[in-house]
Amino acid sequence: MKQISKAAELTAAVEKAKEQGLEIGLVPTMGALHEGHLSLIERAMRENDFVVVSLFVNPIQFNNKEDLAKYPRTVEADLKLIASLPQQRAKEVIAFTPSVDEMYPQGEPTEVYHFGPVEEVMEGPRRPGHFSGVAVVVRRLFDLAQPRRAYFGEKDYQQIAVIRALLDQIKYPIELVPCPIVRADDGLALSSRNMRLSPAARAMAPAINATLEQAAEMAEYEDVDDVKEWVLDTLASFHEVTPQPDGLRFEPEYFEVVDAITLQPIENWDDAGEHGAVGCIAVWLDGVRLIDIVKF
Ligand code: PAF
Repeated sequence: MKQISKAAELTAAVEKAKEQGLEIGLVPTMGALHEGHLSLIERAMRENDFVVVSLFVNPIQFNNKEDLAKYPRTVEADLKLIASLPQQRAKEVIAFTPSVDEMYPQGEPTEVYHFGPVEEVMEGPRRPGHFSGVAVVVRRLFDLAQPRRAYFGEKDYQQIAVIRALLDQIKYPIELVPCPIVRADDGLALSSRNMRLSPAARAMAPAINATLEQAAEMAEYEDVDDVKEWVLDTLASFHEVTPQPDGLRFEPEYFEVVDAITLQPIENWDDAGEHGAVGCIAVWLDGVRLIDIVKF
């Protein structure tokens, strides 16, 4: 594995790889790598000759400055983790670790992306500017790495729909590869944010996935609205049923049941298209905003 921090150096390495006819895989990350990221990187190493893993905490996708300041930065540990993986098919693996000035040499980008209905639900209205900020950095990474395939985790389910819409707009011939969520043994979806949970909150957090799994069973015989209401009520009243220390409680922000591709809310299970329905949730716990999904 080779670390590169300069955009020009990455471009040169990519041009050389292209001349040799190598297929490039890109795994965009914000660092603080966990097993979820590693599963994306390993898949990219299995499926490509040349892999670029970007580690960049993108300031323009944070609408909350405190969240940006608190975002974990663990570059040295991240590099060791990438280097420890078997490279498999990949002849070369680059960890791209640019500074903010390197990514945005003209200063804060002014371009704004709009994606219509897929961004007008769930995270979109709650995090103004977030998806446009993601699109700006992902397009820049696409331009630099020129990948044949790009790998994204399904925990950020709406982000995948937005990247699909971005690719539709910019018409780059890149295969978007959505990868399944990796969970801890107790079911909690792995996330860099989990490391900000107190031990008591970490012990409580798996109830999110447990509730979603029960919701998937209920979907066999209950209406969409009843399942939605049950999920929100179950989490909001969790601390009453199972008393928690330190006044810990779940504060659900939303739980939506949407078509898996259009991300538009559905009212009946039959309204979902051929890819089915997905339930997407955002919950506050211990000052940390956790998201997760369940496929119906
Ligand atoms: O999912 C993430 O970690 C980020 O949104 C991404 C895709 C790396 C862009 O900064």
